[in-house]
Amino acid sequence: MPSPSGQALSAQNSAAEQSRTPDTRVVIGMIGLGTVGSGVFKIFRDHPDIFFQKIAVRDASKIRNIDDVDTELLSQDPFAVVRDPETQVVVELMGGAELARELVTEALNHGKHVVTANKELIAKFGPELFDLARKNNVRLLFEGAVAGGIPIIMPLKLSLGANRIQRVAGILNGTTNYILTKMTQEGWTFERALSEAQAKGFAEADPTNDVEGFDVAYKISVLALIAFKQVVDPLSIFREGITRITAEDIQHARELGYVIKLIGLAQMEDDGRLDIRVHPMLVPNEHPLSNTQNEFNAIFVKGDAVGDVMFYGRGAGEMPTASAVAADILAIATGLLKGNEPIPSMIIDPATPANLLPMSETTSKYYLRLNAQDRPKVVGHLGNACGDAGVSLEALMQKGINPDGTASIVLLTKSVTEQQMNQALESIRGQASTAEIGCLLRVL
Ligand code: HSE
Repeated sequence: MPSPSGQALSAQNSAAEQSRTPDTRVVIGMIGLGTVGSGVFKIFRDHPDIFFQKIAVRDASKIRNIDDVDTELLSQDPFAVVRDPETQVVVELMGGAELARELVTEALNHGKHVVTANKELIAKFGPELFDLARKNNVRLLFEGAVAGGIPIIMPLKLSLGANRIQRVAGILNGTTNYILTKMTQEGWTFERALSEAQAKGFAEADPTNDVEGFDVAYKISVLALIAFKQVVDPLSIFREGITRITAEDIQHARELGYVIKLIGLAQMEDDGRLDIRVHPMLVPNEHPLSNTQNEFNAIFVKGDAVGDVMFYGRGAGEMPTASAVAADILAIATGLLKGNEPIPSMIIDPATPANLLPMSETTSKYYLRLNAQDRPKVVGHLGNACGDAGVSLEALMQKGINPDGTASIVLLTKSVTEQQMNQALESIRGQASTAEIGCLLRVL
């Protein structure tokens, strides 16, 4: 039951509060009142079932973009918030992994249900926290951790629960999708698109986490945990970002019938090995993911019974992410208030360490752009280098002469292993006529 000192959020909520007995509402302790926390606050400020006991913040005197938060509600001691005996659900929205892990562990050990939107926390420590939730017979829900407002965790777990999932391929980062969309539609350079994304608030001042694919590595490892029940260390995932892609590559891809997207990919091989990676890919124009523009996210799932399914929406931002977090809170609240178990199968099954497919054994078609001397037999030599490695070509285009007099050449291969492609690449690099390897990309 909330203590008399627990503050209602607004005059309206105070009135609702007075008319309700403590056991007809659910008591929340929230950690973090940043972008997503503010959104959750806005959703619930007039909600009759949800009562905020305390909100832990780093600096209680900071001016916030919500005007009706009662400063009595704020605390600078997150451990006191998670240990508060009145609190039934801890909502962790602080981000980062280490302190969040300590706080969530403490909350679970104190018998609190936990809702989090922290992808790094779940990717790095999900299995140990799920174990702890099981032992303490409480829920740990994290719909907001992947793709913001897009429902994907619950659908993978519940709605697609009868399927053996074969593939998950996602555009999971709004920042990079905005940048690639602008490079595609406006012909902008990477640098210009990045600075525009920063001006619009879609990219951080230090964009490394997004543009180098770390953010997507966390998200795809969480999706693999749910879809395949396999634990993947997010730092062990093969990862390439989008910084080397040029407007030229995007134009060549377009001519070949593709768009370039940063993809988080996880797929199960027939022998049970998991092929998981993050890198830019040429996505065929006819693939449902190809039309995901700007800051939007999309996740394509293939199940053995359902076939292809796609989820689309806003993958970040205040209200979209708050929508996912608030739904998790309500799912738990429904169970607590109605005394039944609303989401039994959201207890995450124990997972095993993934048996990863080595990158050298993955298979793709490849796009290769290179600069070579503009003289006879050069294309023949390229064909020989590929042929000797068992790499068959689907397309080969000479794209004009560069200012330094070299020819810009683009190849598209048939499906081969990464090992074969690397062998061909090594041989091409060793040819006297090769001036520079520009860009190597895989095809979805
Ligand atoms: N920068 C991330 C994105 C935020 O754009 O998707 C959500 O992880």
